[in-house]
Amino acid sequence: MPTKIILDCDPGHDDAVAMLLAYGSPAIDLVAVTTVMGNQTIEKVTRNALAVARVAGITGVPFARGAHRPLVREVEVAASIHGESGLDGPVLPEPTIELDPRHAVDLIIDTIMQNEPGTITLVPTGALTNIALAVRKEPRIAARVKEVVLMGGGVHVGNWSATSEFNIVIDPESAHIVFNETWPLTMVGLDVTHQALATPDVAAAIAAVGTGPARFVGELLEFFAHTYKDQQGFDHPPVHDPCAVAYVIDPSVMKVVKVPLDVELTGTLTLGMTVADFRAPAPAQCTTQVALNLDHEKFWALVVDALERIGDPEL
Ligand code: BDR
Ligand code: CA
Repeated sequence: MPTKIILDCDPGHDDAVAMLLAYGSPAIDLVAVTTVMGNQTIEKVTRNALAVARVAGITGVPFARGAHRPLVREVEVAASIHGESGLDGPVLPEPTIELDPRHAVDLIIDTIMQNEPGTITLVPTGALTNIALAVRKEPRIAARVKEVVLMGGGVHVGNWSATSEFNIVIDPESAHIVFNETWPLTMVGLDVTHQALATPDVAAAIAAVGTGPARFVGELLEFFAHTYKDQQGFDHPPVHDPCAVAYVIDPSVMKVVKVPLDVELTGTLTLGMTVADFRAPAPAQCTTQVALNLDHEKFWALVVDALERIGDPEL
């Protein structure tokens, strides 16, 4: 049985790849896509999500717009990495599917409450605002969710500050809520996503698929390579968000360690840091784990396989 997931995202180059991986993988049933401000404003990332849906030929999956700002802080976008549109590089097609009329928070709650307990996995690849709002609005979802597998944080590295990762630091209060809930949570953070590099052989394998969606990914990765080189000195760009989806498809694609995790809310230098307590074996009641090592070849093979399965949908 494929795993049912809700992808909560802010496309975003790597969010777009995450969506294609989720849609193309036979191990995943993509039951909803929700958007949250982050890489760009909520209007832009929502439009981008719908454009990616068109590229991949996604139909019959509800897409809903979510939070337009963090719980407490001002909006902070990542135009330096993702461009003015949030998805600079390829020409984006006009969306053809309509947004679901519900707010993302309500779509998340409805989907979880209408499915059997323990069957919906939440995969957030942006700020955790929608997820925090959903569990505050309907606390019963905490016990019904199978697990939360999120891209965010990092126990040994930051990217938006010395200690902190973008998705967490732009809305640390939401992250604090989500990390301290009772649901099982896997943090797929920078420790592992900085190993998900789009090297030239990866680009060649994607190009060899030879379809429209594969060309689209190629153009996304080309733009991403430039900004990651300019802004953060990477020789090849780290493609973060599909790592969380890959873990749901095949947990053996990365090494995970059970460890208590929390989010710093008051540090002057460490706001938004995800703090892991490695001092002793994790206590039995620990609900959190962190991913530390990626099987690069296996990961990219999943992405290429998903693209092959998506094929060349009519635009
Ligand atoms: C995360 O931040 C965003 O810019 C990316 O889409 C990814 O989710 C990496 O820090
Ligand atoms: Ca993202």
